[in-house]
Parts: sequence; structure tokens; C-alpha cells
Amino acid sequence: MLRATPAAVLGLASGRTPVDGYAEMQRLHAAGQMDWSRASTFNLDEFAGIDGGHPGSFRTFMEDHLFAGVNLRPERIHFLDGAAADLDAECDRYEEAIAAAGGIDLQILGIGSNGHIGFNEPGDDLPVRTHRVRLMDSTRHDNAALFGDDPSRVPHEALSMGTGTILHARRIVLVATGGKKAECIRQSVSGRITTRVPASMLQVHPDVELLLDEEAAALIGRT
Ligand code: F6R
Repeated sequence: MLRATPAAVLGLASGRTPVDGYAEMQRLHAAGQMDWSRASTFNLDEFAGIDGGHPGSFRTFMEDHLFAGVNLRPERIHFLDGAAADLDAECDRYEEAIAAAGGIDLQILGIGSNGHIGFNEPGDDLPVRTHRVRLMDSTRHDNAALFGDDPSRVPHEALSMGTGTILHARRIVLVATGGKKAECIRQSVSGRITTRVPASMLQVHPDVELLLDEEAAALIGRT
């Protein structure tokens, strides 16, 4: 993407899934094959109640796994501030910043074992725009590694791009690996569109690519 469009606006995910991909991007940059100097990034989500310098924050995670090893300009790295005094205003600010950048060209997504994308948790409805979200216990459990393997230390709230924000990206690449993701991938790809499986919303997007290993793809097509 950056070779064809050096000034691309990239939406990025944290989590275990993209770690190898980010390492490869760092390697390509070190080899002089990937220039990030004109790119901009917007991360999908961040925990509320902690600031970006907290060791458990997604901001710290991204610094460690990507930003430290590429030549992104600091002012072009965009993150939700989970420690903002007014979290609702912070969500509005983020939507405006994405619009001011011209929208997201390529959104990288992981998927939660409960079918979430970003931190859009399954429910009766899904917020369209960037919003505050109450994290499900399963999500807090899945993110415990960032907080000393102690789920009770994972914040209860987060800020996340909305489903509409994600669907507005011009292109989307969802990455999933391992058998733990097989059922949510099956439901997202072969099932009905439902707010109970937020990733199923991607079925309405015209340009989505799924990068799956065999385990994650194993149940596609089953009813
Ligand atoms: C992270 C995010 C989440 C993760 C998902 C999968 O920024 O938005 O939706 O992509 O929880 O996490 P891993 O990759 O750790 O399985």
C-alpha cells in the first residue's frame, strides 16, 4: 500500500494477530523498502482511564511493535486518548481528525473471539461512530497479557471507532489466526448480518480481504 500510495491513511489494530505483520513492516523499513514518512495512522481503539504512556495501553503496544521501527512522523500518528477529561468530546475529536485526513484508505482489523471488530462488542445495536464502550468480561480476559496477566486490572471501559467509522474505510483487511477464531470467522463470513456478530457487518463492504490461516478458516461454509 505505501509503495503505491506513500501518503496513505492507515487504520491500525493492536493485539497479538498483527504482531508478525508489524515486525515485517519494520524489517522492510530497515531494508529501505518501505517509507512511512508521508503516511498517517489512526488506531482503532484504546483503553479508557489510562494514558498512552501506561504499559498496558495500546499506544505503548504500537510504539513497541511498530512505531519505534518505522519513520512515521509523530504528528501523523493518531490515537484516542483514554485519559481525556471528556471522553465523549475525545471521540468526536477523533471522528473529525479522520475526516480531516480524508478518511481511511486501508483499515487493518483483527477479530475478537466474540466477533468484535475494534472494541465494538456484540449487542442489540452497534454505535456508528467513535464511542465509549463497556468491555465484555471475555474481552478483558483476552487482553489480560497487557496487564500482567491479571484480567481484573484490564480497564472496564474503552474508546473505539464505530462500525460505521470502520465501514467507511475504502479498503479493509481482516487478519485472523488460530482455531480460537474459527467460530467467529464462520459466523462473520457464512452467517447472517447481525449486531450479535459485529464482524458480520463487513459483508456489506465492497472491498474486504480476509487473511486467515487454516485453523481460523476451518469452519467457513458450515451451517
Ligand atoms: C485491537 C482491536 C481488537 C483486536 C481483537 C483481536 O486494536 O481492535 O478488535 O483486533 O480483539 O485481538 P488479538 O489479535 O489479540 O486476538
